[in-house]
Amino acid sequence: MKTDVLIIGSGCSGLYCALKLPSDVKITIITKSDFASSDSFLAQGGMCMQRDENDFESYFEDTMKAGHYENDKKSVELMIRTSPEIVKDLVSFGVNFQRDEQGNLLFTREGAHSRNRIVFHKDITGKEITSHLLEAAKQRENITLLEYTKMTDLIIKEEMCIGAKVEFQGKEDLIFAKETVLATGGIGGNYEHSTNFCHLTGDGIAVAKRYGVELKDMDYVQIHPTTLYTKEKKERSFLISESVRGEGAKLYNKNMERFVDELLPRDIVTAAILKQMKADGRDYVWEDLRDIPKEELETHFPNIVEHCRKMGYNVFEECIPVVPAQHYFMGGIKVNHESKTSMEHLYAVGETACNGVHGKNRLASNSLLESMVFAGRAADDIQKRLKGKVCKVSA
Ligand code: SIN
Repeated sequence: MKTDVLIIGSGCSGLYCALKLPSDVKITIITKSDFASSDSFLAQGGMCMQRDENDFESYFEDTMKAGHYENDKKSVELMIRTSPEIVKDLVSFGVNFQRDEQGNLLFTREGAHSRNRIVFHKDITGKEITSHLLEAAKQRENITLLEYTKMTDLIIKEEMCIGAKVEFQGKEDLIFAKETVLATGGIGGNYEHSTNFCHLTGDGIAVAKRYGVELKDMDYVQIHPTTLYTKEKKERSFLISESVRGEGAKLYNKNMERFVDELLPRDIVTAAILKQMKADGRDYVWEDLRDIPKEELETHFPNIVEHCRKMGYNVFEECIPVVPAQHYFMGGIKVNHESKTSMEHLYAVGETACNGVHGKNRLASNSLLESMVFAGRAADDIQKRLKGKVCKVSA
């Protein structure tokens, strides 16, 4: 098979990259599982945006502080400045962010944010965004979407990427491409306890490493402070969104005493919980959602309320046990501000890539935004390359 652009992964970064390319570019998107099984679908809390010009400084500072000031400043600036455009774009794809009666966007809050600046759709923001991007991609005649098609290797010629080897129903095939984009998501499938889908095992990063493509910050792994504790191991840990704490939920030790400011950056809250669990001799701490008005819980967090109910907890009347779990990877394939890797004709976007925007620890709700900002930049760069110059090697 031959295509202009091969995108490996169908989360919001892969889909957004495809949708930002012109309609005369032939695009093939492959995904290892089904389209709904990307981590983008699981994102609960929401997506940050710069609310107005006055918000720039504090949003920049919040992102840098959470990242221990190891962030790439230019990446942070690009992400923040592009955020209103991304929201506008998503609305044009039909994404329905929560609004007040006058139609103004509503904003929620999560840890380490100095103000409310997170747009959301109930507690299923990722599903709302990604399903609309997927629908839009399915409508485009220039985009071919292939499920259950696993990338097994890259095709390399003269040290340049010219496509990928894939496996579909046990059969190997080759897809030749002028430009290839790795959008294979995170690494959580390699962990015993993770909020990620189990099949997300860092395939893009592994294959890049095989060919000496530069990687960055490979030990910067984020542990989310609050996932629902269960005695038996589940396929993946169920997230109790940080926006629940943003709206007033509290954390308690075994004596029902608070032990941490719940809105500190998530690496600090995680460390405090792990210390407390050790001191208590327990596998969890308590999270109390009862300070959140019942109507807010029902309308903003129906997915969490329902999941807890199914697991035997009535969040209106009792605390729930929570425990930290692997959640996000700040490191990955090193890319420039156009999401280009160190290999010719190879890009990386989303959680697979590391453009330094998150530094050592990602600020809550910056991931959906970052992935689309830099997927859009990859699309612009690819477009220029496809127009401007002939591929250096013929497939
Ligand atoms: C959450 O809703 O707590 C997760 C949001 C994120 O990872 O940014």
